[in-house]
Order: sequence, then structure tokens, then C-alpha cells
Amino acid sequence: MRIGVLTSGGDAPGMNAAVRAVARTAFFRGWEVMGVWAGYRGLLEGRIYPMDRRRLGGIIHRGGTVLGTERSPEFATPEGQRSAAGKLAEAEVEGLVVIGGNGSLTGGLRLSELGVKVAGVPATIDNDVWGTDAAIGVDTALNTALEAIDRIKDTASSHQRAHVVEVMGRESGYLALMSSIAGGAEAAVVPEFEPRPEALLSFLKKAYEQGKSHFIVVVAEGATFSAEELHEYINESEGTYDSRLTVVGHIQRGGIPTASDRILASRLGTAAVEALADGEAGVMVGIRGPRIERVPLDEVVSKEQPLDSDLYRMAEVLAELPE
Ligand code: F6P
Repeated sequence: MRIGVLTSGGDAPGMNAAVRAVARTAFFRGWEVMGVWAGYRGLLEGRIYPMDRRRLGGIIHRGGTVLGTERSPEFATPEGQRSAAGKLAEAEVEGLVVIGGNGSLTGGLRLSELGVKVAGVPATIDNDVWGTDAAIGVDTALNTALEAIDRIKDTASSHQRAHVVEVMGRESGYLALMSSIAGGAEAAVVPEFEPRPEALLSFLKKAYEQGKSHFIVVVAEGATFSAEELHEYINESEGTYDSRLTVVGHIQRGGIPTASDRILASRLGTAAVEALADGEAGVMVGIRGPRIERVPLDEVVSKEQPLDSDLYRMAEVLAELPE
């Protein structure tokens, strides 16, 4: 059997470990592996080349993706998808492992509707893919965001300031909520829950009056009340902290993947090849509790992964001030 592997969408630390696991598991079965360079755009351009063991050496600990990645508007069209399926047929690729987030997995579903045997692997720092507790890359990104918050807290406390920290997540508040809990921040603002700027300002004032040395608010990139708006709102208000704004940005997408991301990537990459070997295509492999499960791709892309409202409430309780 000859399979292909591609990475697509925003890169995520651990993608390389997943590519390695896919290829090595396939080699173990005596299969051939073709790497598709630069995601779906590369596929449309026919950039499909054999992968050998030498290409896989020394990549498990590297962030980014050695295959390259793209967001391809051309592939989003039915003609683009038909042309991509044609390129795979020309290269005699029978199965394809797609490593990426929701957009990439939707692309995988479209290809499987055209007869390509697709196995999806969730990889996105946003952790917003339905059907898996964790996507590859989120643990590393979370630790990077957390390190930024820890550092900011030092300077915030020294100056008795408020700091608004924007973390990634255009449509997902996962990184913001989890990094605010782990960093002991005073509040998190996320796209999934209604922002309450007035309540937040009263909270800031109360903390300031009580002499609290710092006030950290973690804001998701896609929050409807943006980090910049919040920062300005605080600075325009009387009787509270002076605010500073930090956008952590793409730093969260790069860097050495954590052990947890490398292990998850190795497990999911292996499981994707096993799904193809069992003749089960049109599925994503995800982790649920301790187990790896196969979830139909149409289910994955038609459902939304909710942000845990209990954790959101817990974060509020943990940040409560005395009366
Ligand atoms: O999907 C991952 C992500 O990092 C989002 O959190 C972010 O909004 C987006 O990608 C940024 O994309 P780009 O790197 O294309 O600007």
C-alpha cells in the first residue's frame, strides 16, 4: 500500500512527531509513504514526494512542520478538491493522513467523499476539534502562554499594575481559560462567554482598593471585547490600576514540543495508519480519556467542541477576593 501524509492549516508543535509516527508505522507494515509538501496547496501543485527514513531523523523534538503547511482558498472549492483527488490518483496514493485542525479535517472529509481513504489527526493549538480531548500542539502552546503570564506577573507585582495578556484563539478560548487557571490570573475573557466589562472593572477597583499587587486578565484573540479595548478601558478609568498590554502571538505556535505533545502525536500518528490498515477511512483518530478512538470525520466537522463552563466558573471562584 502507498499512503500520503500532509500537514495543513496553522502549524502546531508536535506535527513533526505525528509525521514521523505515520511514516514509521507505515514502514513497519512494508508500505510506501509519500510526503505532500505545503498542505493542500502543495497537493494541488502535485508536490508529492517519497519519504524515506533519512527525512524523519532528528525531527521528533522540532516545532513547526518539516512538510510545510498552508491555508489554501483554492482547495476550498469543489473543483480544487476534485483536482487534489486527481493528483493523489496520479501519484497512486491509496490512503492519506491529514494532520491539522478543523479546516484541514473538513478538507479531509471532502477528499474522502471523492473516494480517497482519509484518516485525520487533530493538530491545533486552539484545541477546538470535536471528538478529541486534546489536539496535538495545545500542551506546548499552553505552557508557552503560561510562561509569559508568569513572567508578566513578576513585573506586574513590582509596579502594582494590571496587565492584559492576549493569547491565541480566534474562535476558541481554550488557551486563555487554561492559561489563566494555571497562571492564577484574576480573569479570563473568551469568545464562548459574554464579556462583562463593567463587572470586570468593579473587580479591578476592589482589588486595587484592597492593595492587591497585580491584576492579570488573559484575553483570547477572538474575544468580542478585545484585549486592546480592555486595556484602554482600564487606563481610561479612575481609581484603579495602570494597565499594560502584551500580545503573546505566534510565539505560542513555535518551539520544542512538550513530552505530552510528542507522545500524543506518536499515538495518534500510529493510530491513523492502523485505521487505514483496518480499511476504516473517513475517520479522525482522537484521544478520549486514556483511549484512542476513531470518530467519523463528518461528525467531527459538524460539531463544535464546547469550552467547559464548569472550569470557567471554577476560575472565577479561584480568583474571588475577600469582602
Ligand atoms: O488556528 C490556530 C491559530 O494560531 C489561531 O489561534 C490564530 O487565530 C490563527 O491560527 C492565526 O493564523 P495565522 O498564523 O494564519 O495568522
